[in-house]
Amino acid sequence: MLTIEPYPASISMTTPLILLCDEDGAVFYPHPLLEGANQRARAVSSCCGKSGQTFVLLQETEKSPLTTVIVGIGKSAEIDSDRIRTALGDAVQACIRHRMSRATVAVPEFRSSNVPPMEAVQAAMEGSYLGNYRFARYKDAENPPLEEVRFWVTEGLAQQQPRLAFEVETRCQGTCLARDWVNTPSNDKKPAVLADRFVQEARSVGIEATVLDETTLRQLQFNALLAVSAGSSEPPRLVLLEVGSGFGKPVTALIGKGITFDSGGLNLKPGESMSDMKTDMAGAAAVVAAMSAAARLKLPLHLVGAVPLVENMPSGTSTRPGDIVRSLSGKTVEINNTDAEGRLILADTLSYVQSTYHPSTCIDIATLTGACMVALGERIAGLFSSDEELLKRLTDSGRRTGERCWPMPMPKDYKEFLKTETADISNMSSSKWGGAITAALFLSEFVQQDTRWAHIDIAGPAHTQKATSICPKGGTGFGVRLLLDYLQGLVG
Ligand code: BES
Ligand code: MN
Ligand code: ZN
Repeated sequence: MLTIEPYPASISMTTPLILLCDEDGAVFYPHPLLEGANQRARAVSSCCGKSGQTFVLLQETEKSPLTTVIVGIGKSAEIDSDRIRTALGDAVQACIRHRMSRATVAVPEFRSSNVPPMEAVQAAMEGSYLGNYRFARYKDAENPPLEEVRFWVTEGLAQQQPRLAFEVETRCQGTCLARDWVNTPSNDKKPAVLADRFVQEARSVGIEATVLDETTLRQLQFNALLAVSAGSSEPPRLVLLEVGSGFGKPVTALIGKGITFDSGGLNLKPGESMSDMKTDMAGAAAVVAAMSAAARLKLPLHLVGAVPLVENMPSGTSTRPGDIVRSLSGKTVEINNTDAEGRLILADTLSYVQSTYHPSTCIDIATLTGACMVALGERIAGLFSSDEELLKRLTDSGRRTGERCWPMPMPKDYKEFLKTETADISNMSSSKWGGAITAALFLSEFVQQDTRWAHIDIAGPAHTQKATSICPKGGTGFGVRLLLDYLQGLVG
């Protein structure tokens, strides 16, 4: 869908042209044929330059009608990758609203910002691809998305990174795949069905995929995980993915929470809190989509993915508050709240992944706590790790990709809130405050000494209540580009 090419020798526009315009007339199109565009951008900067504004201009020329979409990008000194992504998302949305099917973007130089040219092109392509996403599995989109967006860049840039369009497109495809899975309603992604879809996707790109079914999970003693699936008539699955074992690199493991629906169990959620709970498998979706993209990009890394898929339901066979199970690690867990189910399935998965694959680094990503949303809102993930380097790498990746992560503390003394008289640990904090932290501390009890571990709580950013420039209402695919950027950094 994305193509990149040098500015052509002569311009005869057959597709609409997207031009960016800042508030102070400082963007510059580095091509003599676009002198007209430069003049126009300068002339309209005061009225069209604001971020979030788009203008569609129809113009009769001697040869043919020319459509220009002018999109504002704000003050020139404030331009960063995120602004560029947003502006191109806005531009694409305007094209879609006007029922266009393709567009050409002239990528300007941002002379008074410090975004490197390559990063600017990349952000422009990302914004276009992500803003073009629609979920149309159950109802046709009112206006169909664009079929193609072409990018004009300087000759030097086009030569410097011939794979850029492919790489950006592959990463963004991953994000959109995760969005599709998250947006699918729970009746069409029961654990066994979703496991099949994940396996199909993984195998199509050469990833080895195995599925553990309920009988196997019982034999292996995944008792914390099984305590969550107990109330549902849908049996659980654990999907295991592995790729790149031949590279002889240390194992990086990614674990994603895959609750296909979270009713809360017997600690039933009130209706309002339950309504978005089909998104409770967003961590799993991010892991599978990121691994699939990593395989397509042929990243020379040894990766393991593990996603437990479970439905959390109330019934006569449900786990009851106060029940105690012996988790796979051997530790006993008192389940004092059946709605704190994510940490239970993750605990057993963490134990299994560490004893089976001995990863040097393990990252879990999960829509784990409402408390994390209270702390950081809907757009920033909570990041927990006691490894400074891992923390820095992930926050850096968050800044670069716009999938922001904020470091959160894991104070040892807060572990006392997970103490209980009758078992090794409780799944429910005895304090009503700091729920994101106590959830992370619970997980930390299942991480071995020599594993570098990070936990990313995406309860907020996995889903958006309101459409943004680069994402319609619903699943955001948060985490896919973040994880890929992190993995890319390991290759370097
Ligand atoms: N899946 C929820 C967390 C969540 C809440 C995700 C809102 C997205 C939006 C999780 O399983 C949950 O229910 N957490 C409880 C934990 C509590 C019972 C300790 C919560 O946050 O209230
Ligand atoms: Mn829950
Ligand atoms: Zn949940």
